Amino acid sequence: MMATQRHPTTAVRLRAGAAGDLDEVMRIMSAAFDPSFGEAWTRSQCAGILPMHGVTLTIAENGRTPVGFSLVRAVADEAELLLLAVDPDEQRRGIGQALLDGFIAGGLAGGAHRLHLEVRDGNPAMDLYRASGFSAAGRRRNYYHGLGGEAHDAVTFLLTD
Ligand SMILES: CC(C)(COP(=O)(O)OP(=O)(O)OC[C@H]1O[C@@H](n2cnc3c(N)ncnc32)[C@H](O)[C@@H]1OP(=O)(O)O)[C@@H](O)C(=O)NCCC(=O)NCCS
Repeated sequence: MMATQRHPTTAVRLRAGAAGDLDEVMRIMSAAFDPSFGEAWTRSQCAGILPMHGVTLTIAENGRTPVGFSLVRAVADEAELLLLAVDPDEQRRGIGQALLDGFIAGGLAGGAHRLHLEVRDGNPAMDLYRASGFSAAGRRRNYYHGLGGEAHDAVTFLLTD
């Protein structure tokens, strides 16, 4: 699967990921997520979900360097974006959008009629999701717990075909 960024300086390539990509996934995860919000997953959470039926890891590469990833789970006629992250040095170059576009296209191609995701209320990624047609469909109170113990709501975003 190839996707061309809106910003013409570099081209990002999307490829299927696997357990062998976990070092790079964790490097990007640690750099991208602010630990104060409790949104990042642990390595064992990622390793545990990867072999499960319907779970897909996609790696965005700039040349041969992984610069972002998405983790998706498809169940029946639904697909869920579990994680989306881009290396901070590579953000605002269209890579997150390319991964999100891949999630939408892959979900629809796989027969999903409902695409959904959860995001911390206030995360700037909400703008990215809204711009791609997702709308807020629910709220989970105190879903994320930050390092200091503070809680943050999750907003559920939904896109239907
Ligand atoms: C969210 C994230 C994946 C976006 O990746 P990205 O490669 O920077 O996104 P893009 O460059 O494709 O952005 C596309 C559009 O989304 C919006 N957007 C993305 N990041 C934004 C931000 N921090 N603030 C406001 N709008 C933002 C903008 O409209 C942007 O278009 P523009 O750059 O032309 O203005 C990245 O910021 C990230 O890794 N964040 C930390 C992890 C996280 O919170 N993930 C989401 C929850 S799982």
